[in-house]
Amino acid sequence: MSTQTENIRRVTAPQIARRKGGEPIVSLTSYHAHTAAIVDRYADFILVGDSLGMVMHGMDSTVGVSLELMIMHGKAVVRGTKRALVVVDMPFGTYEESPQTAFRNAARVIKETGCGAIKLEGGRRMAETIRFLTERGIPVMAHIGLTPQSTHVMGGFKTQGRDEDTWPLHEEDARVVAEAGAFAVVLEGMVEPLAARITKQIDIPTIGIGASADCDGQILVLEDMLGLNPWTPKFVKVYGQLGPMIEAAVKSYAEEVKTRAFPGEDQVYR
Ligand code: KIV
Repeated sequence: MSTQTENIRRVTAPQIARRKGGEPIVSLTSYHAHTAAIVDRYADFILVGDSLGMVMHGMDSTVGVSLELMIMHGKAVVRGTKRALVVVDMPFGTYEESPQTAFRNAARVIKETGCGAIKLEGGRRMAETIRFLTERGIPVMAHIGLTPQSTHVMGGFKTQGRDEDTWPLHEEDARVVAEAGAFAVVLEGMVEPLAARITKQIDIPTIGIGASADCDGQILVLEDMLGLNPWTPKFVKVYGQLGPMIEAAVKSYAEEVKTRAFPGEDQVYR
């Protein structure tokens, strides 16, 4: 297995942190070795997001994703890549209880997948845990704003910061995770001016998704930007329509099989 440490040219968490205010950071999610190998050529970091529960496994939310599932997909992405930093999401229920529980589970993720960092959701409430992990050798990417694992508390996937009175709380979340040692922070589903303000206020890179073009970097769910999801969030630009391409290919195959036009061994293996 190719690991983060074997390849010295892999991007590291401190290198991402040093990109604050510099060239925009490119990132995408990936859950499998083959797509990760393509993304690896263009992305600074690849997130094995717990969105895989919804995108790959047809779950209604990310809440049901297990640590084992994240480790399995994390291993595949590390195997498929050489250059980008691989960040693996900590799933719901594996880090919130205490810094010690978070360390035990995050250490498993790092050791078993070979990834270079983990991501967890939450601002102020996760500050102690972020500090505990980073002081013990685990680079942490934070994630604030719309945090999908809290969908039951938030009452759905809602853009954050529509009410300006709530801005100080989001700004405090960002400041506190940066002070606790996070090397970067994802700003998800946040009104544009708030995300732009936070980006100016903190000294770690902000990675936007449905936030602001002024963030230090951007991330999208790969299947969303490839047109593979039946439902795509409004803010996502679809860069390729793979869904219809796959359907056309499967249809041609099915027709060839049914009409016995499927190429025989002598045509295929030449
Ligand atoms: O799980 C995920 O894919 C994420 C991104 C949307 C940031 O957390």
